[in-house]
Amino acid sequence: MPEFMNILKKRRSIYTLGKEVSLKDEEIESLIKEVVKHSPTAFNSQTQRVVILFDKAHQKLWDLTETALKPVTPPEAFPNTQAKLQGFSQAKGTVLFFEDTDIVKGLQEQFALYADNFPVWSEQASGLTQSNVWLALSEAGLGANLQHYNPLIDAAVQKEWSLPTTWSLRAQLVFGSIEADAGEKEFMDETDRYQVFH
Ligand SMILES: Cc1cc2nc3c(=O)[nH]c(=O)nc-3n(C[C@H](O)[C@H](O)[C@H](O)COP(=O)(O)O)c2cc1C
Repeated sequence: MPEFMNILKKRRSIYTLGKEVSLKDEEIESLIKEVVKHSPTAFNSQTQRVVILFDKAHQKLWDLTETALKPVTPPEAFPNTQAKLQGFSQAKGTVLFFEDTDIVKGLQEQFALYADNFPVWSEQASGLTQSNVWLALSEAGLGANLQHYNPLIDAAVQKEWSLPTTWSLRAQLVFGSIEADAGEKEFMDETDRYQVFH
């Protein structure tokens, strides 16, 4: 099987993560930077902005997420939510994916004909970048899962790390050592999914 297919199939949502990763923080950092750098964007606009949180900063993220969720979660459901968030904090780190809305706005002004497309392309570029980082971390032996606590945590994240207000948080990729494998995955019938013509 081609190597690419092995890498693609190896990536799964891994929820039981730990801190025992063999890569150094700097290695993870440079891997993520390389992947983001080489992930395509519309018009090569490079709208992706990325914040990498390790250890204490990662813990801070999941603490502030808990603080943000508490007032909006029914009290009887909160213990489950809290346990889930504490699960994320057991991992090694989190990659925060943002899009720079200033760049998107600038493109809309510059290329009025495509104005409606730029926010869509920005989302698409973010999604494929998230996927590429997820694949690269998986290929490097790390597990990860993708979360979306935005926009609930946006203000707290922006304040905590003094980030530009034009950076719009799109996703959080939690990563760490794999402490339990993902379960079996079901796939839909191929006949409902594809059409091929010659
Ligand atoms: C766009 C997108 C959004 C997702 N959002 C979440 C999420 O908010 N929380 C979560 O636990 N998983 C999230 N996932 C993970 C999916 O549930 C998961 O990828 C899917 O069930 C297939 O499982 P696999 O990742 O193990 O292949 C998301 C995945 C994608 C592609």
